[in-house]
Amino acid sequence: MKKSISTFLKHPIKDSINRSANPSVTRASTILFNTMQELYSHEKKIRNNKKISYYSYGRYGSSTTIELENILKELEQAYHVFLTGTGFGGVALAIMSLCRPGDEILVSDNVYGPTKEISEELVREFNINAIFYDPDKFEDLKDKITKKTKMIVVENPGSNTFEFQDLSKIVKIAKRKNILTFLDNTWGTPLYLKPLKLGFDLSFSSATKYFSGHSDAMGGSLAVNKRVFKKVMNFYKLSGYRMAADEAYLIIRGLRTLDVRLKQHYENTKAVINFLKKQKKVKEILYPHKPGTKNYKLWKKYYKGANGLFSIVIKSKKKSSVVRFVNSLKLFGIGYSWGGFESLALFQELRGNTKYTKKRLFFRFGKDEHIVRLHIGLEDPKDLIEDLRKSLRYIK
Ligand SMILES: Cc1ncc(COP(=O)(O)O)c(C=O)c1O
Repeated sequence: MKKSISTFLKHPIKDSINRSANPSVTRASTILFNTMQELYSHEKKIRNNKKISYYSYGRYGSSTTIELENILKELEQAYHVFLTGTGFGGVALAIMSLCRPGDEILVSDNVYGPTKEISEELVREFNINAIFYDPDKFEDLKDKITKKTKMIVVENPGSNTFEFQDLSKIVKIAKRKNILTFLDNTWGTPLYLKPLKLGFDLSFSSATKYFSGHSDAMGGSLAVNKRVFKKVMNFYKLSGYRMAADEAYLIIRGLRTLDVRLKQHYENTKAVINFLKKQKKVKEILYPHKPGTKNYKLWKKYYKGANGLFSIVIKSKKKSSVVRFVNSLKLFGIGYSWGGFESLALFQELRGNTKYTKKRLFFRFGKDEHIVRLHIGLEDPKDLIEDLRKSLRYIK
């Protein structure tokens, strides 16, 4: 029977030995085999991506992480899914496993801060050159492709400024020139966009965000096609990347309700945006909410839904008053990450290099325009609107 994704997420795994509705948490370093031959043949199966229910050593995972891999493999329609201990580990795994000295990577200018940092600083120490392209101009990306381009690193929509790109165009040109493609799909999740089906070689999600959904676990999921599997597997094994069984369990638990939570985040967000768009102090809302705009059209073209993460642009000569607006919110926590049950707010400094963000090279906002990122959680949106209404008055 072909099940819908919502049904699939409720049913994928049970523990038949303990008869519980959830998988067991298998914490393991040593995995025991009856004979040496059994151990060797199991390792061969792993190398060849055959179906397994346990690994040969705890460094690669356990039966609990395999349960999570299987769910994500189905969601992503992937050849294999590599799990990492944090989301960012998945980004680093993709770049470091596939790029070598002399290669160039083309990176969208609006990627998540540390993705920019690894591209701009760390990989250069390995003689891999990162070149940033303007996410709003496909021609810019096209012009920057050289014979050395090994990978195009895309994040869609971009962190903090939420530009949407024409993904099929990127895949098409990359395939023609034999370049690998990576997409950070944390915002869309594989429920709303399946990058591998579009033709990307690597589809990444920070499982810390909506997969887990409860701000109590960290992890990354790097889904790959057959073309890159062996190289990524080799680096994965030799670099010691892995997700712990307890985190995998929490992420499996979160995934059960991913579909329902995303719908509610979206409903709440629409209510909040309806309020924000009437506020004079809010100049722009960076979210695909306005039919007819470029970002809306591209979102519609590729995505089945949206969620609770967006930014607002506030025009003010007094930056400190915008910071005060953020500080005075009572129901929005100030802190990193997003995708949990709760609302969050962050003032985002994108103009210069700070301790936490790298300077944007292509930035279309004016000197007096400030960006505040909001994550709309699962609280009652009426309360969130009231909170925003009270705090907006601090903006001068
Ligand atoms: C778009 C995006 N990608 C990757 C990451 C990294 O994930 P993690 O925090 O789980 O390491 C984040 C974290 O905020 C993110 O927002």
